[in-house]
Amino acid sequence: MDFIDLKSQQQRLRPLLEERLRAVLDHGQYILGPEVEQLETTLARYVGTRHAVGCASGTDALLLLLMALDVGPGHAVLTTPFTFIATAEVIALLGAVPVFVDVDPETFNLDPDKVRLALEALKRGDRSLHPLPQAAMKASVRGLIAVDLFGVPADYAELESLAEEEGLFVVEDAAQSFGATMHGVPACRFGHGAATSFFPAKPLGGYGDGGMCFSNDDAMAEKLRSLRVHGQGSHRYEHVRVGINGRLDTLQAAVLLAKWSVFEEECRRRQEVAARYIGLLEKVRPDLVVQRIPDGVVSAWAQFSLLAPTPEERDAIRSRLQKAGIPTAVYYPVPLHLQPAFAHLGYHAGDFPVSEDLARRIVSLPMHPYLEPQVQEHIVQSL
Ligand SMILES: Cc1ncc(COP(=O)(O)O)c(C=O)c1O
Repeated sequence: MDFIDLKSQQQRLRPLLEERLRAVLDHGQYILGPEVEQLETTLARYVGTRHAVGCASGTDALLLLLMALDVGPGHAVLTTPFTFIATAEVIALLGAVPVFVDVDPETFNLDPDKVRLALEALKRGDRSLHPLPQAAMKASVRGLIAVDLFGVPADYAELESLAEEEGLFVVEDAAQSFGATMHGVPACRFGHGAATSFFPAKPLGGYGDGGMCFSNDDAMAEKLRSLRVHGQGSHRYEHVRVGINGRLDTLQAAVLLAKWSVFEEECRRRQEVAARYIGLLEKVRPDLVVQRIPDGVVSAWAQFSLLAPTPEERDAIRSRLQKAGIPTAVYYPVPLHLQPAFAHLGYHAGDFPVSEDLARRIVSLPMHPYLEPQVQEHIVQSL
């Protein structure tokens, strides 16, 4: 059994994929060919933003957004420690200080009350109010990156109003939430800019790395387009800023256009798969707690994640399922404040108790649009 079954999807889409790839081989515009713009236009229309800028990965999408927002040395950016490394890595790569803020124990997303507390602590320079890196004491706070973990959009109503009060930017890390909605608003439309990932395992995944930035801001979009091609100006060898080589490959855009043809149907199937899991779990293992989906939210169900009552039971579940030939995953076993890469920030175990507890008790079950009901029954029975 696959944790994410990409083979069934490929089998279904093979003729369309081959047709799309052949078209690229025929026209030969491998760099920023017509498929990239076609994908940008299609996805911007779906999300409802004025602009979409394809780039080389979800990590680059986040990096480009922070570069467009002029984040650099002397700045601090708030984010969650319960996410993939890329979210905080881009802050550090630009010489700014990541300031971690704990998450809500039920949605696993940034807790706005704790964000408020962290901002207060930064303003007063008081580390007894909230754990802060020493380096953040001298930094100026520029904004926050919220993550839509496992496909559930963060609490943007609260986060955006808080950021507006404080004059901060909000970046939506929608790497896992493309296809989700909150009160009918699609993920990738929140904040000053959003980043998604087309990593193969994502809800809309390519056959390699890829990503996209979304924004309603014309000036920001222009900057993003320049930054992804070495800070290009009005012609190829004029460089008006320092940028990166962060373009989306034409071949990946072609793959994504083929996959786009079934994306909305796959989103509906994910809802059915998730609802079936929830129904089965209620009967068989009511002690396992499923990630809370807030009112008005439709998750993209990038992952189906559960909390076991204890760390020991989580590990027992994993080995029981492994023996039954069922793969599981742990996202994420080590919160970012405890990663060696961020040791220089000076955080300690116990600084973010919710994230640390989640890391010990969380487990994700196989989740993809082609999961059959009888397979799900077998998985839940094996729990
Ligand atoms: C929350 C989050 N942010 C950023 C990324 C980075 O995306 P990519 O792997 O496309 O660089 C990922 C990818 O796993 C992610 O899950």
